[in-house]
Amino acid sequence: MGMLLLAAATAAHAATDDGAAQAAAAERGRRIYVEGLLHDGTSLTARTEQGTALSGGAAACIQCHRASGMGSVEGNVRIQPITGRYLFPETGDLTMANMDGIRGKTLNRSHAPYDDALLERTLSKGIDASGRGLNALMPRYALSTRDIADLRAYLAGLSTAYSPGASKDTIRFAVVVTPDVAPARRQVFLDMLQAAVVTKNSSTLPRKRYMTMAANFVTQTERRWDVAVWSLEGPPSSWAAQLEARHRAAPVFALLSGLAEGTWEPVQDFAAKEHLPIWFPSLAAPPKVPANGALYFSRGVMLEADVLASHLSQGSQATERAVVQIYANDTPGAQAAERLKQSWRGAPGRLQDIVVNAGDEQALRAAVGKAPTDADLVLWLGGPALKALDGLQPSPRPERRVYLSRSLNPTTEPLFEPLLPSVRWVYPYELPRLRQANLAYLHSWLKLKNIPLVDEEMQSELFLSLNLMTDTLQDLIDNLYRDYLVERTEDMLGKRESSKAEQENRDRRALGRLARAAVDGEQRSAAGVMDAPDARTAQRRAFGVPESSGTSVYPRLALGPGQHFASKGAYIVRRDPGTPGLLAADSDWIIP
Ligand code: HEC
Repeated sequence: MGMLLLAAATAAHAATDDGAAQAAAAERGRRIYVEGLLHDGTSLTARTEQGTALSGGAAACIQCHRASGMGSVEGNVRIQPITGRYLFPETGDLTMANMDGIRGKTLNRSHAPYDDALLERTLSKGIDASGRGLNALMPRYALSTRDIADLRAYLAGLSTAYSPGASKDTIRFAVVVTPDVAPARRQVFLDMLQAAVVTKNSSTLPRKRYMTMAANFVTQTERRWDVAVWSLEGPPSSWAAQLEARHRAAPVFALLSGLAEGTWEPVQDFAAKEHLPIWFPSLAAPPKVPANGALYFSRGVMLEADVLASHLSQGSQATERAVVQIYANDTPGAQAAERLKQSWRGAPGRLQDIVVNAGDEQALRAAVGKAPTDADLVLWLGGPALKALDGLQPSPRPERRVYLSRSLNPTTEPLFEPLLPSVRWVYPYELPRLRQANLAYLHSWLKLKNIPLVDEEMQSELFLSLNLMTDTLQDLIDNLYRDYLVERTEDMLGKRESSKAEQENRDRRALGRLARAAVDGEQRSAAGVMDAPDARTAQRRAFGVPESSGTSVYPRLALGPGQHFASKGAYIVRRDPGTPGLLAADSDWIIP
């Protein structure tokens, strides 16, 4: 009895020793893979096919095979997945990764299972385990047996199990809504979300399986979505605790979409801590410094400030231009004002600030009224605060401009009419007329679901965020790792947008009459692109409506490795004097 216990204890001890040694090897392997550092602290070195020497971080595997180890697609080159499941598969492992630039056309190459010797040969000679010569992009490494063993230990544990929130048949998301959101926007956001999730889940019922890739069919990876709405309450300082409690109760795979009018900072901090991707929420002011794994449509007001700085530096009077910016303390507008100060390119001292306390309408009115008329105004104010403009007489100097932020004014409040000709908006979206073609699908979907159009930008963002998640999950097949979700999107977003737009243009032509029936009013001009080719061309000439270039309110969306903001510019727009209620461009698309 005593002997047996002793034996068991020794075995357990040996197992922990073994585990600890394994963990230490994996950690050394991580340093090679991620940092390009060998076990003795010297730099990993490599040589490209052309003989260029690489070393340290530049030679690290993560550069190409990415943090998830799932590889990537660069132009036409497919960088294969190299996690343990792929290199050293156990029987029964289904290891399929989508290696296509668009979607669903090519899977990763199969090969004989690797072992240390074969891995060493691949790294030094560029020959895979089955003897195939590898693409020249894969560098050559001369690694010691010990470093190879360390690498192998790291790869064996990399992306082995679904990330939390994902299981064989369900994937769980949270949608965060902050308490500052106006009730009408909040309601339409939640209604759309619910309708989309119901549709999504009914299309995955056994007999209604809707799948675009054979691989999804084989692996049966179509999953039910379980979407929790995390409505926050109270001051931002209390959000972290609320988020943590909900996540602890039922962990999620990612923060899907989301809605805020003020700060998003605490949400991002929480997500970074939990290693949760942030997936294209609708925000006026994303955090100044984006965290790892956070994907946003644009930099919001920060982008607007940069675009404005660039716009104001154009033209012959740029050096004489004086600008007064007015904003309220502790608001996204204050962030924008701070940013404009940083990116101001006019003469020093010609940009003046007036700060008021948020909510102090009297002070605001006084500030707007007393700003010198020889200065242009920039009002980093949202919604009701713009009432401060009421009664403000147009300047005797007709070229005086009043600049407003579109991000801070998601639903345009009626402005003081006499002032309108001098008002310009910084507008980080595609122009209303141009984007109707991009949004035809959204508009017919809303009609079908009986959901009103309250805020086209926000509704388009939500629609895209959800559709993008559906498509990307299909792309991932059964590799549900949070890092990979983000990496794949960084690689594919631009390509996905242009191929979707092309496909939608084709569908629209084919479905001409159907689609036209679903569109009316202002959108009729865009419906022109749905006609037969000849009529279409005529319509396009008549209305200047191009075919859609994307599927959202943004003219183009794209990311690259490590990028966080998909849309990178804005227009300056004014009211279109010819078409009341419409906006017209007053500048090109400005990428600051
Ligand atoms: C500059 C980009 C780049 C870097 C850095 C890089 N690789 Fe690769 N690797 C590739 C490409 C591209 C392929 C696929 C070539 C092909 O399939 O023809 C590849 C393939 C491989 C394969 C073969 C996979 C298979 O399916 O047979 C292994 C193993 C591999 N890499 C390991 C590594 C390791 C380990 C490191 C770091 C020490 C590393 N790679 C660094 C680009 C890179």
